[in-house]
Amino acid sequence: MSEARPNVYVTRMIPAGGIELLRESCDVEVNPEDRPVTREQLLAGVKGRDGVLCLLTDRIDAGVFDAAAGAKGFANYAVGYDNIDVTEATKRGIPVSNTPGVLTDATAEMAWALLFSAARRVVESDRFMRTGQWQGWGPLQYIGGDVTGATLGVLGAGRIGTAMALKSRGFGMKVLYYDAIENRTLEDTLGARKVELETLLAESDYVTVHLSLTTETLHLLGAPEFTAMKKSAYLINTARGPIVDEAALVDALRNGEIAGAGLDVYEHEPRMVAGLAELPNAVVTPHTASATKSSRTNMALKAARNLLAMLKAEHAPDCVNPEVYGN
Ligand code: DGY
Repeated sequence: MSEARPNVYVTRMIPAGGIELLRESCDVEVNPEDRPVTREQLLAGVKGRDGVLCLLTDRIDAGVFDAAAGAKGFANYAVGYDNIDVTEATKRGIPVSNTPGVLTDATAEMAWALLFSAARRVVESDRFMRTGQWQGWGPLQYIGGDVTGATLGVLGAGRIGTAMALKSRGFGMKVLYYDAIENRTLEDTLGARKVELETLLAESDYVTVHLSLTTETLHLLGAPEFTAMKKSAYLINTARGPIVDEAALVDALRNGEIAGAGLDVYEHEPRMVAGLAELPNAVVTPHTASATKSSRTNMALKAARNLLAMLKAEHAPDCVNPEVYGN
């Protein structure tokens, strides 16, 4: 007699490859609505499942683990997993995985897109053109920040921070980075310097955030940090919104404490803090840094492969709490 197929729940539609891979060996239910599940839907959806493929918009905590009693694992469709209470999962012996490596370049590229858009005022100028305001070339129109030869300050020199910094080579930038760990690649390739946060903020023309969200990085950048930055500097954030005190950022952008910002992530997604949308010196995108065809497809495949491993009680390749395997 054949064994029963595992029963898995996917909290929202992801690129088809991941779903197809799961369907080869599992019964799969996907939330049919193209929006994040409500708490009630999540609790009902995970009930009785052997495994769950979840998204960064799902809060996965003790209540969800209770509802999903018996689930063999949770595969997150994201490299960041601050939406999951991993400590609680580990206590219960539940493996959790993420999707590292496949969105590194896409995210680094988006950081550059935001950096250039903010520095060269691309969105502001585009709006100016489309609203028919241009009367012809002007020597003082839309003057922005220089990129070539400027100083790039990288907060968090992991995979994405490193990729972002390495792409600065064509612009001859001086690179500073802030991280607990020395990054030999950045130092050897770019002559980058590992510095304290204060130094990075004081010396950088562009500060780009690539840290994970943890209790230590929550509001790492707030009013004092914006004051410490150059008035001509720009902040780029493609990591997690709550690393930045968004209300303080609005004040800093409004009062000219810094020149501009390029943001893909927000403190209270999907909302932006009051005032941000009205600021011409902020370029804002809807958490789409990993949104390229290949990145999103590979994230789906990676999440599916991790979940399949968990269902077979095998070591999931991207398990973030390997302690659960006890070896
Ligand atoms: C991630 O993977 O953590 C991004 O924020 C979304 O792709």
